[in-house]
Amino acid sequence: MTEVFKSGGNELPLYAPGLEGIIAAETVLSDVDGEGGRLTLRGRPIEEIAGHMTFEEAAALLWQGFVPDEYLIRLPELFSQARQAATQAVATMQSSPAGLSAYELMRLGLEALPLDCGCDEAVTISGALPYLFAAASAIAAGRQVSAPDPTLSSAEDMLRLLTGKIPSADKVAAADRYLVTILDHGLNASTFTARVIASTGSDMRSSVIGAFGALKGPLHGGAPGPVLDMLDAIGEPENVDRWIAGELAAGRRLMGFGHRIYRARDPRADVLREGLAPLRGTSENLRKAEKIEAAALAALARHRPERKLQTNVEFYTAVLLDAVSIDRELFTPLFAVGRTVGWCAHVLEQRATGKLIRPMSRYVPKAA
Ligand code: ACO
Repeated sequence: MTEVFKSGGNELPLYAPGLEGIIAAETVLSDVDGEGGRLTLRGRPIEEIAGHMTFEEAAALLWQGFVPDEYLIRLPELFSQARQAATQAVATMQSSPAGLSAYELMRLGLEALPLDCGCDEAVTISGALPYLFAAASAIAAGRQVSAPDPTLSSAEDMLRLLTGKIPSADKVAAADRYLVTILDHGLNASTFTARVIASTGSDMRSSVIGAFGALKGPLHGGAPGPVLDMLDAIGEPENVDRWIAGELAAGRRLMGFGHRIYRARDPRADVLREGLAPLRGTSENLRKAEKIEAAALAALARHRPERKLQTNVEFYTAVLLDAVSIDRELFTPLFAVGRTVGWCAHVLEQRATGKLIRPMSRYVPKAA
């Protein structure tokens, strides 16, 4: 039985490990309906936004009422200026100790990003990240860092910087679809982290950098690279049943399946899967993914029937980003690029409450 804490006539759960089922914020930004398998952003289903709006358009939608309208109507231009400002962080990234991952380099770049360019911090940080991401990936791979192109959109310029050539319209559309799909998602672990930091009165950059740390773990944003490792390890779909049975018998989790909130299918998985149609033929994994997914779902239903384990966003993230020619080590940093827009919105929303987030722990002394 859940212990309760009585406050003002209400009974609140006193101890919930992992804060499962606890509401710690009210938000106008997004709603995650775990039973229905629905995600709503600013009152609109994700299916109406991802695949229909660019990264810049979706950011403007999410930020309505939080970032001044005068900036929202000029977002493509301001994001392009932010990419230019981000070039000033490259020297710090290049002089970092050897061996840092692209994720760590991007975080370092964010630390060094000048924020005194007279624009809104949320706009400058979110607009700079596609460039910091591309620069970090170049430095991690020992390549030269190129300059941004202010005439291109964030997604187009980012793919150009990654590959050294102007990307096809299909790849730009897929990258936009991905960034928009992951823009915001309720009070997930990294967003909660950003809000906790913001609630102390700390600054926007510190909140986003804290969220970076939470996103990195494999139970949150670190799963899509391992999804591709899994597809590689399975090889041909005829091996899938044997391989999965071995993993589950060994007590390992299948990456790209299961979710804390969704008990139905993660709607973002389908939004991303739909974006694969124009990319057919670009990646071997596209051919295999649906068969492997079906076999994994059947095995998980036998393994934990009561848990209703379903495909999560990371499964098709891996397949889509692979088809867009993005290396698997870059999947988590790219997740951070999109999610930063959501983190910034939550920081602004949390600040407006003026409330410090401060739960309690229960002291359980152990005999020496
Ligand atoms: N494969 C096999 N078993 C699983 C899986 C999985 N993918 N997910 C959960 N389970 C099992 C657990 O082993 C656990 O079993 P137990 O009770 O015998 O220990 C049970 O289901 C419940 O698992 P919890 O971790 O308590 O459930 P929670 O809701 O906290 O887990 C999580 C959510 C962490 C995402 C989990 O499903 C998981 O580890 N998935 C694989 C990693 C992954 O895909 N992460 C990306 C998530 S999406 C995102 O954050 C963007």
